Amino acid sequence: MSELPINKVLPPADRDQGRAWSRQAARYGDLFLDPFRPGVESPLLPALADLPRPETLTVADLGCGIGPLLPDLVGKFGRVIAVDFAPGMIAKAKKRLGKEAAKVEFLARPMFELDDLAGQLDVAIAVNSIVMPDVRDIDRTLSAIRAAMKPDGVFYAVLPAMDAIHYHTMILHDQALDRGLEPEEAERHAAFHAEHHFYDFALGRFGFLGLRQKFWQPFEARHRFAKAGFREVELSQVLYPWDDSIAGFQDFTHLPKSWDWFVKARP
Ligand SMILES: C[S@@+](CC[C@H](N)C(=O)[O-])C[C@H]1O[C@@H](n2cnc3c(N)ncnc32)[C@H](O)[C@@H]1O
Repeated sequence: MSELPINKVLPPADRDQGRAWSRQAARYGDLFLDPFRPGVESPLLPALADLPRPETLTVADLGCGIGPLLPDLVGKFGRVIAVDFAPGMIAKAKKRLGKEAAKVEFLARPMFELDDLAGQLDVAIAVNSIVMPDVRDIDRTLSAIRAAMKPDGVFYAVLPAMDAIHYHTMILHDQALDRGLEPEEAERHAAFHAEHHFYDFALGRFGFLGLRQKFWQPFEARHRFAKAGFREVELSQVLYPWDDSIAGFQDFTHLPKSWDWFVKARP
């Protein structure tokens, strides 16, 4: 399959995002958490392990990034496709896989360009990659993914949770009040440590290092997946360990863990 050069196929806003993601590929591991690191409770790998006869199935890792999921797919699934619009991400994913990279069909292109895969995917996976800041891109990407799937296929998506940032804000705020801070100081404390300056809470967006990402509310996931024609849309959570990725974590270990949304859907 051919790889489409990023500057030929993308509208300018997406092209900028593709470049921004590519620029972060080299230090990706320093900036972003591995969604499969020890301590993360994710329904994804158990769901993949439950699929009967994976050697007969075609799987696509959509928005593969530097490829943390690919070692779990290569050698198990019959055909493995990895899509990402950032050439820097694809290059790093190939390097990390070494010889095994030859067993993956890498496609450097946006996720809404899946016409040549119509009706071919048994399993589609998108881990923290349905994050386009323009929701029109999200809607057309979800429709493209659905069209690329076999009628009895399954789509697993992990979506960054907007409400988890509200949760973090709430517990930071409570913590500050419990320590005797005045309400205004407590609000400043929560806003600072939960990094509110990076977020647009009304529309669920996060901007950082030139990257603009959509964060999701659960009602929005149900709405957008249904709008794209998905059925049997089931939400559960990926749970994260209380560790130094979460400001103030030492004081919160007795509380329920933070999360991202996990969606299972049928085309
Ligand atoms: C937060 S990273 C997640 C990467 C990987 N799935 C992981 O779990 O580590 C988001 C990835 O999605 C890719 N991405 C974002 N928007 C995309 C689009 N419209 N088409 C293709 N890839 C996209 C980015 O280049 C980036 O590699």
